[in-house]
Amino acid sequence: MNVRQIAFAILKKIYKEHKLATEVYPYYLDNIEDERDKRLVLEIVYGVNRFKGRLEYVLSKFANKNRTEEDIWLLMLTGVYQLLFLTRTPAYAVIHQTVDVAKKLNPKVSGFVNAVLKNVSRNKNSITFPTRENLADFIQYTLSFPLFLGMKWIADYGEDNAIEIMKSLNLKKPVVFRCFKDVKPLKKDYIVHKTPYIEGSYHGNIPIYIIRAAECYIMNEASQLAPELLRNFKGEFALDAASSPGGKGFLLKSFENFEEVIFNDVTKERIDKILENSRDLMLEIPSITMSDFTKPAFKENSFDAIILDAPCSGTGTISGHPEIKWIRSPQNLKSKVNVQKEMLKNAFNTVKKGGVIIYSVCSMEKEEGEAIVSDFVSSVENAKLISPFEYSSENIRNSFSKFYKEGVGLRILPDKFLDGFFVSAIRKE
Ligand SMILES: C[S@@+](CC[C@H](N)C(=O)[O-])C[C@H]1O[C@@H](n2cnc3c(N)ncnc32)[C@H](O)[C@@H]1O
Repeated sequence: MNVRQIAFAILKKIYKEHKLATEVYPYYLDNIEDERDKRLVLEIVYGVNRFKGRLEYVLSKFANKNRTEEDIWLLMLTGVYQLLFLTRTPAYAVIHQTVDVAKKLNPKVSGFVNAVLKNVSRNKNSITFPTRENLADFIQYTLSFPLFLGMKWIADYGEDNAIEIMKSLNLKKPVVFRCFKDVKPLKKDYIVHKTPYIEGSYHGNIPIYIIRAAECYIMNEASQLAPELLRNFKGEFALDAASSPGGKGFLLKSFENFEEVIFNDVTKERIDKILENSRDLMLEIPSITMSDFTKPAFKENSFDAIILDAPCSGTGTISGHPEIKWIRSPQNLKSKVNVQKEMLKNAFNTVKKGGVIIYSVCSMEKEEGEAIVSDFVSSVENAKLISPFEYSSENIRNSFSKFYKEGVGLRILPDKFLDGFFVSAIRKE
């Protein structure tokens, strides 16, 4: 398979099986030798996912979707992405190679694909995109978001905020990392910048394997918040209840304010990820348990603090996982709500009196964040929402207080650096 065919095959699998790109592409990339080819495949896959609405809009000017085979349409979207965004690749090369793939899919339509892509290439600079006056088209074609999601966020956050959220989630964010030992070795060979929100967090244009080899872990500042909110908590036992691949637990452990941090997750596969990461990062192998945290697995009242970073729709991480826009439906956006409720109930039974639960989700959906904690504390007498900054550093308080809503928690709106996130602190009185 050539590079364009592989990109097409990955996208097809993502949309058909509703999978994340990271679950699909490793298998395909293993069969590519050249690093530049690997990068091109990922560029096409992520680019098409990020701008699919825009690409559909352009393609619809030159071809009729209803009269085109699904596979051919998708293949042409990959071609349109390259013609619009990969300006250093000559148009004739993009068209030639895309037509080559079309021939394999259906030889009869290769002439059609060739003509359409040539047309796109000739006319791409004269296309104007919908403006905000036509809100539905603006959301779908200019911002490249599914209409249901755009409209839901307008209802939840107001129109101006929702548009800003969508624009930020279309940005590629800098690679942000924390170093568990020292950042100095990295600084010798690379330019390393401080990030805007959290002390000790950095970003830089550095290959990922170099970052990891330097014992540093890639983690958005929004995600770093969950352990940071426990930085000044002193206790014996902490539990990271849904911990794989381990980032939040590793950071909490590095603060050394608990005697033991236990890492829990639900399957062996997920546990293996924690082990793999701790080995790669040369960290001490953590204490790990495997249990379904919707059910009682630990002794009641046994942990001083619990991080419950619950499974969720992931809509706050669309910058890094743009395919989430196209693999979620209105129904499955809320499909984890019952699991989240059960996990929080279980965390509350498991935490000691006076102990704290940090509940977080990398989601923009209030049903998975605000509603879960509000419903819980209003129905459980001795559950109390506390200020999320009670055990944080001053730096964290100063950086994030603008996101704090009393009686709810921190609703992190995405920006150039931050993913969308929700985090809140509950004490067992
Ligand atoms: C958002 S991820 C956690 C990310 C992790 N905290 C980190 O910072 O690297 C959610 C995790 O919940 C786990 N999970 C899902 N259902 C679970 C359950 N019933 N019990 C325990 N863990 C579960 C998933 O396997 C996944 O690893």
